[in-house]
Amino acid sequence: MTEAILLVGGKGTRLRPLTVNTPKPMVPAAGVPFLSHQLARARAAGVDHVVMATSYLAEVFEPYFGDGSQLGLHLEYVTEEEPLGTGGAIRNVASRLHSGPDEPVLVFNGDILSGLDIRALVDEHSRAAADVSLHLTRVTDPRAFGLVPTDGSGRVTAFLEKPQTPEEIVTDQINAGAYVFTRSVIDTIPAGRPVSVERETFPGLLSAGATLHGMVDSTYWLDLGTPESFVRGSADLVLGRAPSPAVPGRCGERLILESADVAQDAKLTGGTVAGAGAAVGSGARIDGSALLDGAVVAPGARIRDSLIGAGARIGADTVLDGAVIGDGAVVGEGNELRGGIRVWCDARIPAGAVRFSSDQ
Ligand code: GDD
Ligand code: MG
Repeated sequence: MTEAILLVGGKGTRLRPLTVNTPKPMVPAAGVPFLSHQLARARAAGVDHVVMATSYLAEVFEPYFGDGSQLGLHLEYVTEEEPLGTGGAIRNVASRLHSGPDEPVLVFNGDILSGLDIRALVDEHSRAAADVSLHLTRVTDPRAFGLVPTDGSGRVTAFLEKPQTPEEIVTDQINAGAYVFTRSVIDTIPAGRPVSVERETFPGLLSAGATLHGMVDSTYWLDLGTPESFVRGSADLVLGRAPSPAVPGRCGERLILESADVAQDAKLTGGTVAGAGAAVGSGARIDGSALLDGAVVAPGARIRDSLIGAGARIGADTVLDGAVIGDGAVVGEGNELRGGIRVWCDARIPAGAVRFSSDQ
């Protein structure tokens, strides 16, 4: 059996306003808090003990997941008084680990949806006799990530977090946010102060001659840190493109939770999810979107690639395309909101107030 650390303390700034009331890992994707998918996948890979490193809105995790027994896991929670960064968070939970010095410990960023073969990463780690092994993936634009070039044998040769200049873009291989640490390496991270595993620990280990091993894997992979990617990830879970044992229902064009109320002639497609207690009126068309718990969509609304927060209300015949509507916001009828608009929690947009085209 293996143990894992989940990093779930970030502020989720790029997802605001969805992260005003809810930490990113607890925002529902395909009907359940995103973290449920990661925990279920870890369990399926043989992980039995998970320590959650929490900071921002730390109090909401334990009431939901408890001691983990319902998931077949032993879950523990450790809260940072001040955010300690990714490396500091890993070091801060070290006392809760049961592994011996030479045993592998998994570490996961709390916002990654992926089909990674977790066991294969652990196996490669021991085969390579590495100090740390990293899951790597290839992306077309690596600038928002950590760049990780490797040599022919998979040995990591550099770690460049969020490259600033074109010269720094030396590879399309990026850190995919899943690691195996040999336990004793965790104990070498300085305690009691903020540490970035990406900017300090990995470069430091490399210059000290440690063995960092990269495993490139081209399975499904998405960082759910932005509204566009979050809604994409939720839809891919519903469609079955992204694998998760935690989707609460059969995969397909739509996922309607039991307590949701969707009109017979409403059309939900493209992996749309209607969360608990959500309601969709007659003739509404919703594609590739997520309605969080208690969201209400009035008749005739047309919604695409959008996230509707808990308890938010969308008026009749309103058009949303690539919009984020915060919890409890009210968008009156006959509005047209497009392209990256973020309506804040509890805000009110009167009927017919905003358009991107003529009303005639
Ligand atoms: N406990 C704790 N404390 N967790 C934290 C803290 C902290 O101070 N800061 C961040 N985290 C958690 C976040 O909640 C998230 O799950 C994870 O650490 C990574 O933080 P992000 O804010 O999502 O980082 P990123 O997406 O910009 O970059 C990271 O992920 C990329 C892959 O998606 C880096 O690891 C990159 O190198 C990587 O490519
Ligand atoms: Mg991220």
